[in-house]
Amino acid sequence: METNLIRESAVGKIILIGEHAVVYGEPAIAMPFSEARVTASISEKKGPVDLDCIYYKGELFKAPEILLGLSRLVEEITKSFNKKLEDFTIRIDSTIPPERGMGSSAAVAIATTRALYKYFNKKLSYEKLTNLANISETVIHGTPSGIDAATIAGEKPLYFIKGEPFKALKLNLDGYLIVADTGEKGQTKATVASVRNLTKSNPKKYIPLIKELGQLTNQARESIEKNNKKLLGQLMIQAHKNLQDLGVSNQILDRLVEAALDQGALGAKLTGGGRGGCMIALAADKKSADLIAKSLIENGAKNVWIDNLGDDLIDI
Ligand code: MEV
Repeated sequence: METNLIRESAVGKIILIGEHAVVYGEPAIAMPFSEARVTASISEKKGPVDLDCIYYKGELFKAPEILLGLSRLVEEITKSFNKKLEDFTIRIDSTIPPERGMGSSAAVAIATTRALYKYFNKKLSYEKLTNLANISETVIHGTPSGIDAATIAGEKPLYFIKGEPFKALKLNLDGYLIVADTGEKGQTKATVASVRNLTKSNPKKYIPLIKELGQLTNQARESIEKNNKKLLGQLMIQAHKNLQDLGVSNQILDRLVEAALDQGALGAKLTGGGRGGCMIALAADKKSADLIAKSLIENGAKNVWIDNLGDDLIDI
């Protein structure tokens, strides 16, 4: 029988601009994606810690490699409380499509950390939460910038520079953001590693692309503050070109970006790690957003959401 059921959750995230460059200390802008959520539940049971999720059901420390980040995180937290790794079950439920650049791994880490702290009756600061989530992110992604954990833990749009305290950003924009899922798994670890190889083997060619992405992010911040959505759209288009040149786009992402622009989007780009995952498009009004969303589905998107950049996301 399950006793002491503790339940905590975490939202997903969308990167508006600056992905990949953020790993190199450039700024990026991200926002929470509250349409999709992870819930972590903890209940008491006798014996070794169990995990119950879509990938695996059984003893946590016999879990497959894909769950190594999570098991490290649980180990670290229980050790810090001088507790033994026994006598509870962690159950993970998620509506965030995994490996789509929506921050599902960081959301799992954050929901689990929140649940464990509540289970052990401990206080959890924002800083502690993001540091712990990044333990799991490092195992999963290699060299994360920390933007996913920072956005998901804070649940606010933010202007983020690696290693600096984040700055909340007011989304003062009357446009609509369309998020489309290609249905293909993104490859954050592989794309971060391949950008790293390019910047090492040919810094003259690739570092300027990274630096320019940082400049585009700063201009995007200004355009948001001045409610200049036309300019923001142009900056998104340029950011997608730079990401293509860094080798992190693919055919379906490019096709969806083209389709959105053909349908009148002010801007469009991939979001997150790339080579699969999701893309985003900016629309001037709701009518245009609906047309773009329809065209994205016709061009192969598996799911589409519309966000009026302020209110809740609408799943269509
Ligand atoms: C992943 O959501 C964003 C990347 O910039 C990687 C990172 O920041 O850790 C691709």
